[in-house]
This record gives sequence, C-alpha cells and structure tokens, in this order.
Amino acid sequence: MLKNDIGSAAAVLRQAKRVVVLTGAGISAESGVPTFRGEHGLWRQFRAEDLATPEAFARDPKLVWEWYDWRRGIIAGVAPNPGHVTLAAWEKRFPEFALITQNVDGLHARAGSTNLAELHGNIWKVRCTKDDTISDDHSVPLKEIPPRCPDCGALLRPHIVWFGESLDSDVLGRAFALSAACEVMLVIGTSALVHPAASLPYRAAASGAKIIEINPTPTLLTGEADISLQGKAGEILPEIERLLAVK
Ligand code: OAD
Repeated sequence: MLKNDIGSAAAVLRQAKRVVVLTGAGISAESGVPTFRGEHGLWRQFRAEDLATPEAFARDPKLVWEWYDWRRGIIAGVAPNPGHVTLAAWEKRFPEFALITQNVDGLHARAGSTNLAELHGNIWKVRCTKDDTISDDHSVPLKEIPPRCPDCGALLRPHIVWFGESLDSDVLGRAFALSAACEVMLVIGTSALVHPAASLPYRAAASGAKIIEINPTPTLLTGEADISLQGKAGEILPEIERLLAVK
C-alpha cells in the first residue's frame, strides 16, 4: 500500500463501520483561525504561561480575557471550511462515526457535527469561578472585561482547559473508549504533541485500528500511521469523499 495515497485511504474507509476522527488546529487553518505551533502559530507570538494557565488568570484576568476576546473576534468572522463540512457529512456515511477535537473554536458544530467530543473545551462557553456553572456567551466583543457571573458576581473564566489543568474526565473517558473501539482513526491537523489527546491514536492502533493522518507537514505520529496524506485537510477530505461517493 502506498503511504501517501488518497485512493488507499478511501479503500480503507470503504470497508469501515466504526470510524473516529481526531482533529487539531490545522483543520481550522484554512478557515483563517491561527494554529498554535506553525509558522504564524499563536505560541510563536504569545507566551502560553502568560495567557493560558490558571496562574496567569489569577494574576491578570483582564489580560487573559482580552486575549480570548481577540481570538473570539477572529473566530466569529470566519466560516467552517470544506474539511469541517465533509466530517459533518460523514456522520451519515458511516454506521458509527465520532469526532474528537482539540479545537475550542466551535467550527465543527457550526458545520453540523453533532457526535462531538471537545477535549479542550469551547471558547464560546464561560464558567463561573465560584460554582463552575457553565453557560454560553456569544457576545463579540465581550460586554465587560473581565466578565462577571450574572448570578453571583464572581469572575467568569473561559471554559477551556489550560496548561496544568486536567481534561474533563467524562469527555476524556469517552474519547479513549471511542479510540479503543474504532476500526479506522483519522488524525487531522494536529502536531500530536499535546497529551492526553496525542495518546488517542496509539490507543486506537493498539486495538488494531488503521491510522490515517492528514497533515501538510510530518509529525511524531507520521511514522506510526498506516497512511499519511501530506496536504491540506480542506482539499484532501472532500477528495476522499468524492471517491467514497462513487458506488
Ligand atoms: P498545533 O498548532 O500544534 O498543530 C497544528 C497542525 O496542523 C500542524 O501539525 C500543522 O502542520 C497542521 N496543519 C496546518 N495547516 C493544515 C491544513 N490546512 N490541513 C491539515 N493540517 C494542517 O495545534 P494542535 O495540535 O491542535 O490547547 O495543538 C494541540 C493543543 O495545543 C491545542 O488544542 C491547544 C494548544 O495549546 C488548548 O487550547 C488547551
């Protein structure tokens, strides 16, 4: 089997009933959302320690919220791309299909995906720092920075997993169970560096799943993948779909 061959990927998917997809920032790159570690990546311009840790928020909630407000502004101005749209359509193509994302931008849901595990939270959700109540806040720009809980007046924080924090155990448990049970896992647009998300493909492979990676640049996972498609998700996913749609 050729390693870099869309036809081989389509052939593997054609046989599969249980398909899981793990996405990272790269799937939203073609929509215009910055990634974290690429050439213009956010972590090349900003220090995560200043903006995406509980300590940073305790020190300067206004600064942290200004940064998230800026990112919310970018995301509000973009649309899902053909990569997101194809994955949303695949809920109907495969008997069992689930999407696990590290992204917080909400673009998978906007494209129509419903069976979705958001490992790192969602930038449109806010959480009360006093009682952990989660609610939606789609206002762009935010009405007040830092925002406060309308019920108790405590600070609200972004409902996002920061460095040094644990992932929601229910969401993570579901992600590992899906990975252990799938026949094919596609790993799309992630540098595969941040754990535990980066462990999921290894869990899938350990249970015998075929791993298909889509990424323009090699990652730590590339050598482990059964098929590695080097290119853009927004081009390769519709191309695979075109092949699958041919009876
Ligand atoms: P990264 O920025 O680390 O990696 C993005 C990956 O997308 C890179 O491997 C790129 O080569 C690839 N890429 C770029 N354009 C692409 C395209 N058009 N199609 C497909 N792939 C493309 O982002 P993540 O792996 O998602 O955490 O980062 C993981 C986590 O680290 C994020 O969820 C975030 C960050 O700190 C939180 O926000 C909690």
